[in-house]
Amino acid sequence: MGRGIAQVAALSGFDVLLHDQQKGAVGAALQFIDDHLKRQVDKGRIAAEARVAAQRRLREAPVPAIGSSADFVIEAISENLALKSELFRDLDGICAPQVVLASNTSSLSITRLAAATRRPDRVIGMHFMNPVPVMELVEIVAGQNTSRSTIETTRDLARALGKTPVLAQDQPGFITNSVLMPMINEAVFALYEGVGSREDIDTVMRLGMRHPMGPLALADFIGLDTCLSILEILHSGFGDPKYRPCPLLRRMVDAGLLGVKSGRGFYEYGSGESAR
Ligand code: CAA
Repeated sequence: MGRGIAQVAALSGFDVLLHDQQKGAVGAALQFIDDHLKRQVDKGRIAAEARVAAQRRLREAPVPAIGSSADFVIEAISENLALKSELFRDLDGICAPQVVLASNTSSLSITRLAAATRRPDRVIGMHFMNPVPVMELVEIVAGQNTSRSTIETTRDLARALGKTPVLAQDQPGFITNSVLMPMINEAVFALYEGVGSREDIDTVMRLGMRHPMGPLALADFIGLDTCLSILEILHSGFGDPKYRPCPLLRRMVDAGLLGVKSGRGFYEYGSGESAR
């Protein structure tokens, strides 16, 4: 997600500093972005000059350099509250007081992340959709103490990135995943209970409801482990049995069948292949 956000920001004219604690990850992301921009130039979607300008705006930087010069920080590390809280605590210590700290979390509490800092009014959710360069939505999530001006700054930024922002309150799954994940879970139940084959379940939603992907293919695309973890957050957060993850989903995750990223989920994937 981070590389997609960086790509969109650089193409929109922002100088972007990137950091990943894993060595080589930023280099690989920059290469991926450039390959994608080259394809966009080849297809006539963007001018060659736009690619060069975007490349110049992207730079790897250590966390202290980001802290001392960034006007706005977007965190997109793994979905782990302890890790994210630690990073927010560190960023709070080094970023100028007016800097907004945004998280791309899809399910963790913004209010809890904000509590790790001394600027809870300037902590917010900025939830991008995958693939970031293609999807138009950014779900902005206001924590309990997020200020009106932080919401407006973040909305303006989302619009400057060419996205359409929506505002969600800080409750489990926000809007996106409190609607999307039950649909995916019900599709898995339909498969588990033999209501239909994987192809027929997906075809119903693609051709009957004009979704670009069926829910099982979408679950593979998102990652079955991610889907399970979000459903568990919904289940425990609301205490409502309607969010109980389907046993088949749990079994597949236990078996390492995680979808596109592991090569097999509800469908099988070769390199670069994706189910529709
Ligand atoms: N990164 C960047 N661009 C990508 C991409 C990627 N990973 N994958 C596809 N694209 C671009 C292609 O370059 C192409 O762009 P151009 O038209 O400019 O050439 C465009 O997307 C269409 O790609 P394809 O022709 O290869 O494939 P497609 O038409 O079947 O579209 C898709 C692929 C965009 C993924 C489409 O199937 C789709 O929209 N699927 C639904 C995706 C979705 O629902 N995402 C949200 C997931 S939920 C989430 O992210 C949040 C959460 O919390 C879980």
